[in-house]
Amino acid sequence: MQIEVTSGELAAQDVDTIVVSVPEGSRRPGGAAGAINTASGGAINTMIASGAIRLSDGALTPVPVGDEIAARRAFVHGLGDRSKLTPRRTRSQAGALSRALRGVDAGSVAIAAQPDWLGSDLERGGQAIAEGFTLGLYRFDQHHTRSQDRPSGTVASLLIVERSERRAARVRAGVERGVIMGEAQNLTRDLANSPANLMTPTDMAARAQEIAEATGLECEIIEREEAERLGMGSYLSVAQGSDQPPKFIVLRYRGAPGRRSVALIGKGITFDSGGISIKPAGGMERMKADMSGAAAVLGAMQAIARLAPTINVTGIAPCTENLPNGSATKPGDVFYAMDGQSVEVINTDAEGRLVLADALGYARAHNCSPLIDVATLTGAMSIALGNVRAGVFANNDRLFRDLDRAGDEAGEPIWRFPLDDEYDNQIKSDVADIKNTGGRGAGSITAAKFLQRFAHDTPWAHFDIAGVMDNDRDRGEKVKGVAGTATRTLVEYVLARAG
Ligand code: BES
Ligand code: MN
Ligand code: ZN
Repeated sequence: MQIEVTSGELAAQDVDTIVVSVPEGSRRPGGAAGAINTASGGAINTMIASGAIRLSDGALTPVPVGDEIAARRAFVHGLGDRSKLTPRRTRSQAGALSRALRGVDAGSVAIAAQPDWLGSDLERGGQAIAEGFTLGLYRFDQHHTRSQDRPSGTVASLLIVERSERRAARVRAGVERGVIMGEAQNLTRDLANSPANLMTPTDMAARAQEIAEATGLECEIIEREEAERLGMGSYLSVAQGSDQPPKFIVLRYRGAPGRRSVALIGKGITFDSGGISIKPAGGMERMKADMSGAAAVLGAMQAIARLAPTINVTGIAPCTENLPNGSATKPGDVFYAMDGQSVEVINTDAEGRLVLADALGYARAHNCSPLIDVATLTGAMSIALGNVRAGVFANNDRLFRDLDRAGDEAGEPIWRFPLDDEYDNQIKSDVADIKNTGGRGAGSITAAKFLQRFAHDTPWAHFDIAGVMDNDRDRGEKVKGVAGTATRTLVEYVLARAG
């Protein structure tokens, strides 16, 4: 879907459908809504007065079109309480509106650039609307072979109409960024929604290579033999139970030659059966999305390459399946990570931290800083925070603060968790330097403490996105299925850091 910004009059736009957004409490709305009211012989104001048009959050009401209006159809879109409007709410409303318009088969759409909806920062407002539409219309329907299983309506294009060209230019800059952000998250969603038989580590590597070719990133795929040479025993211990070759993906963006690179690291378990510590059958299909962290890194790297900030970023995605074949890791086995630390595997289902240990080691060996990892790491995180916020751990306050801000910008709120030294007692091993599980209590924290040992003193943050991995229904810009969480937060962080 194409999104454009133009300056001019809404009523004059040659589109199928026009939309005017109106906050609650407006009796005689001005601007584009006023113009449409006049063109329709006062119908809008009459309908508002009679209650036939509701202006509550997300209400969409068809209104008559007069002769002076080029479009076939017109709608009034309720914005709800104007004092509650924020970029986050705008994004969410735009997402819901995009689907409502698809539901009425709106075709080509023009919408007035309502000032309350855009807010005081026109770029952020434009970005929020573009993200809302790009994300809200997303469907993963490529494997539905029958057309009746796909949505029938379309929103073919969106034109945002602003009276002044000076304001339109700022909205346009935001829209351009928002489309890149939304498309990046939709890429993440496509990768993570794909079934595990069609998104193996080999498929992930091929997709990374395609992204690199299309955007000018460098792409390196580290195969099993090279990973062995590099001493990635922790990562390879997960891969040894699968017949699929593991792929350790590295994408490099160079926008500031000579400077240290930020590392974005994503857990890339393309299917997590649990291994020998096998998971129960119920709901196991969700574990096709256990590469959501890796997918978010690939999506973020695509957006970073397209936005071209002055910074270096290394995207790292250690990919493998976690399956229990005859060569699989057994509980009690000991492996050596890239940095030389020995790890006792107590539970083969705590595999994410094992692959991330070597990804952190690789990033440190390449002098990256800070290190930011994203992982569907622990079921315990969805018990703690549910489906609203991701839990974030950091060994550096400044890094956390910057990520917190980036999460707010993206509408992906996070919450900080502790890393007290005392939790280390839970992951002390009798036979190795560390063990990969820490017992019943504080499961998300002991997982993070494990990772911290491999970050050493390098500034590091860890996103546990297990709770926000997927959505059970459509809501705002979020749609049912795998969520693509953290993609835009990572990009916002990188853009802010680049300045
Ligand atoms: N991938 C899972 C965590 C997960 C669970 C993500 C549900 C999304 C939804 C992870 O590899 C795992 O299995 N973690 C174990 C750790 C335990 C064995 C210490 C868990 O959370 O049960
Ligand atoms: Mn697991
Ligand atoms: Zn897992």
